[in-house]
Amino acid sequence: MDSRERRKRKRELAKRRHRKKIFVLICLLVIALGACGLNQLRKQNNPEPPKTEEVAKTEAPKTEKTETPATTEETEGSEKSEDTMKTETEQTGAVTEAASYSDTLQGFSRVTKPVILYEEPGSGATVLELEEGDYVENYGELNGFARVNYNEYAGYVDAARLENASKDNQFKVMEGTLIANKEFGLPETYDPGLKTEVSIQFEKMKADVESEGMTIDIGSGYRSYEYQLGVIERNIAAVGEEETMRSVAPAGKSEHQTGLAIDIINDEPETNIDESFKDTDEGIWLAANSYKYGFILRYPQGKEEITGYMYEPWHFRYVGEELAAKIFDSGLTLEEYFGIE
Ligand code: DAL
Ligand code: ZN
Repeated sequence: MDSRERRKRKRELAKRRHRKKIFVLICLLVIALGACGLNQLRKQNNPEPPKTEEVAKTEAPKTEKTETPATTEETEGSEKSEDTMKTETEQTGAVTEAASYSDTLQGFSRVTKPVILYEEPGSGATVLELEEGDYVENYGELNGFARVNYNEYAGYVDAARLENASKDNQFKVMEGTLIANKEFGLPETYDPGLKTEVSIQFEKMKADVESEGMTIDIGSGYRSYEYQLGVIERNIAAVGEEETMRSVAPAGKSEHQTGLAIDIINDEPETNIDESFKDTDEGIWLAANSYKYGFILRYPQGKEEITGYMYEPWHFRYVGEELAAKIFDSGLTLEEYFGIE
């Protein structure tokens, strides 16, 4: 090979090396760009997680408060709408702060769907089944279960199957005591019968009265809404409307419908359901001692303007021994004692 051919060959080799370099450079560039693009894509699809410490800080209190395992969505809490956050806070607050069981009657509830009364919240033995429309005494709610009394039965029911019945001037409860008067009444369908506790306390009182040589009995105990309508009708026929208004409650407003009031009689019929009862041995004894058994003289003399009814020395209301003693000592009517206008 002569020198001209060698120079030509060298130039060609140099050109080839140059092309190779360029090719390698382009390849490197392509690889670099590809890697960059992929990384970018990865970042877009998987944003960097917060630092471990931040995750710990935001997740730990949530788990403690709600006592529920955090879901994936909860972990990514920053993406939640404000509304969702608010609802959760309110729900947690309702369970942990506002609700609890109480020994004091809170109000009355109406059963909206058949529900089982359990011995324990949500389980245990079935006490009985409550029907739609039944009314229960409510002693507070906790974790979705209401503690209730139905007549002499006590237990727990699913609170979602109850609605508040203590509203619109009905089932008025003051510090655990049900109030029935000309302003505050009861639904037509409230039909509890005479409360067991009232019967028990009356029998105790009767035994003590009889041990002192006197006689008492219940002349009129529980009266349903319908029965009260009949009482009104008969009284209007006998003494006229005005007099009836002073001594007989409108239907739905009578204490007799609460199952907590009784008219007490003795064995002298001429004094029964009459003002003269106040001067009988029994009338005198009851006015002085009935509070020891949990009863108060509900419509005392001189308080017609406050109670709305004339003096009835025979009508007694059961409020429990503790409250009866306080009211007796105070000399006030039920309305005055609770500050009801
Ligand atoms: N005698 C009382 C006021 C009633 O009828 O309930
Ligand atoms: Zn009465």
